Amino acid sequence: MNSKIKSLCEANLPYPEIRVERRNPNCARLLSLAYAGQDSELTSILLYVYGHQVARGRKPEMLSEALRHIAAVEMRHLNILGELITLLGGDPRFSADPRGRVGINTAMLGYASDPAQIIRNALAGENASVRLYNELIRAIDDRYIREILKRIIKDEEHHVKLFREMAGTSMYNGRRGRESEECRK
Ligand SMILES: [Fe+2]
Ligand SMILES: [Fe+2]
Repeated sequence: MNSKIKSLCEANLPYPEIRVERRNPNCARLLSLAYAGQDSELTSILLYVYGHQVARGRKPEMLSEALRHIAAVEMRHLNILGELITLLGGDPRFSADPRGRVGINTAMLGYASDPAQIIRNALAGENASVRLYNELIRAIDDRYIREILKRIIKDEEHHVKLFREMAGTSMYNGRRGRESEECRK
C-alpha cells in the first residue's frame, strides 16, 4: 500500500479502548444509524469500493487508491461500532431499524462513475458523517463511547480534507461533465 496515501487517509492517533459504561439498547439503536443507516459506515464502504474500481486509471491519479484505503478505515469504524452495539446489548445486524427488518438497498446507493462526481459525493458523505457523529456525542451519555466517537471523527476529518484537495485537482485533471450520471435517490 502506498504509505503516503495511507498517512493521508487516517489520523495518526491511537484509538481508545472499546468499552461502554453500561448496557443500553437505546444507545445501541442510535449507533446503528452510523453503523448501517442511509449515510453510514456500511454505505461508505460499499461506495468507496465501487469508486475504487471505476476510478482505476482515471485522474486524479490518487483517487482510486485513496478510496481503497479509506474503505479500509471505514471498515475499522464499522467493526468498532459493531462491537459497541454488542456491548450495549444491541444486535449488530446491518440495519438501522430496531427490529432489523429494514436494511439498505444496494441498488439505490449514490453510485457515480465520473471522478469529479465521486469526489463530490464522498465529500458530502464525509461531512454528513462528521455531523452525525457530533449529534451522537451529544445524545449518548457514556464517556467511553464519546471518546471513541471523537477519535473516529479525527479520521473523518482527514477524509474531508483529502477529498477537498482532490476536488481542487479534479477540476483541472479530470474529465468533468463526462459520464456525470449521479443516481442518488
Ligand atoms: Fe467512518
Ligand atoms: Fe470517512
